[in-house]
Parts: sequence; C-alpha cells; structure tokens
Amino acid sequence: MKNAKDILIVGGDGFCGWPTALHLSRLGHNITIIDSLVRRAIDAKLGADSLTPITSVEERLAAWKEKTGLTIAFENIDVAREFDQLTELLSTIKPDTIIHFGEQRAASYSMKGIGEKRYTVDNNISGTHSLLAAAVELGLDPHFVHLGTVGVYGYDDGGIEIPEGYLPVYVPSENKIYQQDVLYPTNPGSVYHMTKSMVQLLFQFYAKNDALRITGLHQGIVWGTQTEETKLDERLINRFDYDEDYGTVLNRFLMQAVVGHPLTVHGTGGQTRAFIHIQDTVKCLAIAVENPPKRGDKVAILNQMTETHTVRALAKLVSETSGAKIAYVDNPRNEAAENGLRVSNKIFISLGLEPVTLAEGLMDETQQIAIKYTHRCIRNMIPCTSTWTDDQRPGVVYTEKIRAA
Ligand SMILES: NC(=O)c1ccc[n+]([C@@H]2O[C@H](COP(=O)([O-])OP(=O)(O)OC[C@H]3O[C@@H](n4cnc5c(N)ncnc54)[C@H](O)[C@@H]3O)[C@@H](O)[C@H]2O)c1
Repeated sequence: MKNAKDILIVGGDGFCGWPTALHLSRLGHNITIIDSLVRRAIDAKLGADSLTPITSVEERLAAWKEKTGLTIAFENIDVAREFDQLTELLSTIKPDTIIHFGEQRAASYSMKGIGEKRYTVDNNISGTHSLLAAAVELGLDPHFVHLGTVGVYGYDDGGIEIPEGYLPVYVPSENKIYQQDVLYPTNPGSVYHMTKSMVQLLFQFYAKNDALRITGLHQGIVWGTQTEETKLDERLINRFDYDEDYGTVLNRFLMQAVVGHPLTVHGTGGQTRAFIHIQDTVKCLAIAVENPPKRGDKVAILNQMTETHTVRALAKLVSETSGAKIAYVDNPRNEAAENGLRVSNKIFISLGLEPVTLAEGLMDETQQIAIKYTHRCIRNMIPCTSTWTDDQRPGVVYTEKIRAA
C-alpha cells in the first residue's frame, strides 16, 4: 500500500478494537495491538463471558496470518500502569497513528460499586494521559484518535441538535457581541461518562500546548457482532456481550429473545439513544485515520453514530421479528424517563460514510449469532441487578425475583 501507516491500536483485543485492527490491516496498514487483556479478566471475575467463543489473542492473530498472510503484532501492556513498557514500545514503533480504545467502557460497570468507580477513573484518565504525555516526551508526532461517546452530553438536549464538539456562544456587551466556540457542555450520567468528559480537557491541553493532532470520536452505542473481516474464519469471531454490565441494549434484546427471556425495558423505554453498527465503526475509523487534523489545529470532534431510536421502539422491533414478550421493569439507572435526541453526524457523511441501518437486515445476522451460540448463554447474567443509587431498584422481571428469593 502506498500510504501505509504504522498504527498502534490500544485496546485492540476488544469489541471495537479487534475488528478495527483487522480492517486497517486488510487496508494495508502496519498494525500493532496493545492490550492488557483486562477485559477478559473482568469477564472471568464477573462470571460472564462473550456469547461468541472468542479465541485467545495469540490464536486470533495466527488465524489472521493464516487466512490473509498479514501480520499484526501484539504487546501485553497496561497503558495506565506500565509507563516504561509503553514508552519503550512507542520509541521503537514511532507510530503515525494511535487509536485509543483501551478504556473501561461500560457505564453500568462503572456504577457497580466504589471499587469499579475508582478503577474506571484511574484506568481511563491515567491511561489516556500516559499515551499523550509519552508521545510528547519522546518527541513523536502521532495522530491520536480517541473513542468517546455521544452519551457524554447526557440525554437532556432540550431539542438542540448536538453539534460536532463545539458550540458557538454569543455574549452581548454594551457595544458589541462577542463570539467564541466552546466545547459543547457535557452532562455525564455515570462515572464512565464522567471520565469521557474529563479526558476532553486533556485533549484540549495537549493540542494547544504541544500541537498534538487529536481526533475525538463521540460514538453511539455499537450493535452487531461481525464485520467483513471477522467473518472470514470462526477463530476471528468478535465478542458479543449480553450481560448486565457490558451488554449493549440491542444485543441484549436479541439475546433475550433467543433464550425466551422477556425483553427487559427499563422504565417506560422512552430513553432515546444514538446507535452505530460495528461495520460502520470500523469504516469510520478508517476514514478518521485518513483525515487527521493539522498540527496546531484544535481537536477535531466527530459524532460517530448513524441513527437514533428509543429503547421501547427497539424492543418493539425485536419483539415483532422474534415474537418475544416485552417486560417493562424498574429502571436501575438514575436517568430521565423520556428524552429526545438529535445528533449531527455531518462530518462522517461528508467524508463518505454510507451508514448501515437497523432496517437493512443486519439484525437477522446478529440474531443468527445469538441462536448459534445460545448454548453458551449464562441466563443469570442477563437481568440488571446493580442500581446506580440506593433509590433505584433492579431492572428484573418480577417472576424472576420470586424465583431468586
Ligand atoms: N461498545 C460500545 O457500544 C461503545 C460505544 C461508545 C464508545 N465506545 C468506546 O469505544 C472504546 C472501546 O469499547 P469496546 O466496546 O471495544 O470495549 P471492550 O471492553 O470490548 O474493549 C476495550 C479493550 O481495552 C483493553 N484495555 C482496557 N484498559 C486497558 C489498559 N489500561 N491498557 C491496555 N488495554 C486496556 C481491554 O482489555 C479491552 O480489550 C471504549 O473507549 C468505549 O468507551 C464503545
């Protein structure tokens, strides 16, 4: 490939990082994955597991080499805690691009208890800062691409379309009106979202002080499992989380439908959320890699989502196609019962993204995955039992509570 880049993918063993690594490798880039494998360790501790039988990282990489002839390197480093190993690797590779997926990524997990809250803050803030500081310390000029979330803005938009990062503010004074672009205000609803708000300031600082080229991708909730590359071989299969801590809503509904569990809608299901299919995630990453900001530019912020839906509309859709029952259960989260959400994604569309949407049949594919691996489903991992404050109640179906009592 003519413009092949050396790309470091932090968190490249995870749900979004793994298919991104394969996609960018297939496009001809030289890929190195850094991952501490902490997600696999957390799964083991929770007694949860990916529904799909993900193979070890070594087996995954060997299968990729066997199928495509392409090599992806792997380094087991904790970027939040192993700074010396990180700097050594960075000084060897001198990456053109660093894509940072390596954070604790579940809002529910971050609200489980004091240990999880502290871990999420320590891991996400420290890891992100170490990557930025190491690049500067070594005099490198990588394009730094970070995965944030649309959820960072809270879900109380008052009808405003969420812009891509910045909001023009007009301040009237006696003689003139002053105008400034400010970061669109965040309104985090969990410790996880709070860390995503906080790292935005790290990015502003390093872009200003050290002219680092930084892209912040504010992603919607990712659904689906497979991409063109992960489908090439069973050993390349992507992870599918359906448990209360890490499962995202649509994958959870599809799983519940397959195992005959009612679709657990929290509260009225009037929460509107932004979504993106995993295939579009990897395409967006390829687009972002090819379009870095210039040195000295402000942080480029793009909303990486393709559609919005209410939770109850999603449940209805899954129920119609599967015949599953819907159960409106208590909401274990401390959030507005109903909200609207409008999000601008003009930049990715203008850069050529052609979104895959829910209506286009990929739900069937995800459902087929859920059916194929039903035997691996651990049923008691499905209900949302941890609450975000003492005032919330678990999001479980009443009959299950009786059975568990
Ligand atoms: N999955 C979604 O729906 C979604 C939505 C919006 C944003 N995001 C963001 O995308 C990123 C990736 O999410 P994901 O769904 O792939 O999560 P994931 O948990 O599947 O993957 C994260 C990976 O990072 C690794 N990791 C975590 N901390 C690390 C550290 N300190 N050092 C090295 N490796 C570390 C984990 O072992 C794991 O393999 C996250 O930052 C997340 O906030 C995800």
